[in-house]
Amino acid sequence: MFSLVKTLAVIGLQFGDEGKGKIVDFLSGHYRIVARYQGGSNAGHTVKVSGNTYKFHLIPSGILQGATCVLGNGMVIDPVQLENEIEMVKEFSPMDKLKISERAHVVFPYHMDRDIFEENIKSSNKVGTTGKGIGPAYEDKYARIGIRIIDLLDKEKLEKKLEMAINLRKNYLTKEYDIKELSKRYNEIAKKFKKNIVDTSSFLIKNIEKGNPVLFEGAQGTHLDVDFGMYPYVTSSNTTIGGAITGLGIPPKYISKVLGVIKAYTTKVGEGPFPTELHNEIGEQILKKGNEYGTTTGRPRRIGWLDLVLVKYSISISGVKYLAISKIDILSGLDEIKVAYAYEYDGKVIKNIPSDIDNIMKIKPLYRTFDGWEFTKDDVKKEIPKNMKKYIDYIEKYTGTKVSIISLGASREDTKVLKTI
Ligand code: IMP
Repeated sequence: MFSLVKTLAVIGLQFGDEGKGKIVDFLSGHYRIVARYQGGSNAGHTVKVSGNTYKFHLIPSGILQGATCVLGNGMVIDPVQLENEIEMVKEFSPMDKLKISERAHVVFPYHMDRDIFEENIKSSNKVGTTGKGIGPAYEDKYARIGIRIIDLLDKEKLEKKLEMAINLRKNYLTKEYDIKELSKRYNEIAKKFKKNIVDTSSFLIKNIEKGNPVLFEGAQGTHLDVDFGMYPYVTSSNTTIGGAITGLGIPPKYISKVLGVIKAYTTKVGEGPFPTELHNEIGEQILKKGNEYGTTTGRPRRIGWLDLVLVKYSISISGVKYLAISKIDILSGLDEIKVAYAYEYDGKVIKNIPSDIDNIMKIKPLYRTFDGWEFTKDDVKKEIPKNMKKYIDYIEKYTGTKVSIISLGASREDTKVLKTI
């Protein structure tokens, strides 16, 4: 039987889109509280349940399983998107199952405007952002001109804060904003979820101390982390385990274990280096079969082989002991499957990722090749094909972790547990 620790963090170990949403959905039958700690509407989870498809950008997908979902102080929240998602999950979940941090920062239309404007004026080094205003909202937070969820509830105060924030940034905006109107609209939206705006840090601490199981959900992946990712081709938050501590206001001792999620191959959206990227028919085949299009922007994802050098680095930063591998079904039918185990750089073999972007551009992955496998979902539910097992065993050995879950298809039902966490 699958037994689980009381508190577990789920973190992406690649470039985002590892399938965390599906794993969180699967685990939230056990974890009655799911807390998200960073990012905003740049994230996208697609969950399929009983033939229906649900797309989430802010609320953890655990809400579909009736879990209480927390949007932590480390997030940047677009209230318009939040209102839409509340509407979508109404039939699954009473309103009181949603807890929104009063300290989380708000994404306004002027953040999205600036995000797109700044990307457009960069001649080189475009990041390929999602255009959801994430970078500018975090910039305002750290520049101490950000507006927090709690500020939305007082229209007059909100107006003054908006005036300051917009005036300071006006050279980076393409439109004029009617501050009175903006303040009125956002105040009205926030009033709809006023009762859900709480001190989420004390809510979580109280529940953890009572022994209630809590799952911490990271968005994006380690190689998009603002400190540890391939800077500047990163998002503007800490996607790694440190983000969970500051983004939720909980002591480190309250995170018992960390489950890392990887896709059986690698995908990336946006610009920047991608050492194992495939520019061939196999890449095309995986793109189509895996339906690799961004949930947030619809952009086709770039496809590459699994890069274990990147994964191992992510494991060390976040203290990952267990892995979930998603989309292993998509590799079925290929003659051979490759995995990068090292890089060639400057005539030497290295097993770490350089920190400088120009040096990352120069590395060449070294691959180990595995024989492919074929399976039907029913077969694999009983026994894993021999060659797939070899692939999984190699991942475990290389990374020093245990593969606890594999995902064999888009539905919740297509999930196989291999080892206890
Ligand atoms: P931003 O987070 O919108 O500022 O985008 C910064 C970079 O992170 C871009 O390369 C985006 O494509 C990427 N990114 C942001 N969120 C996600 C995600 O949820 N999945 C995959 N890539 C993402």
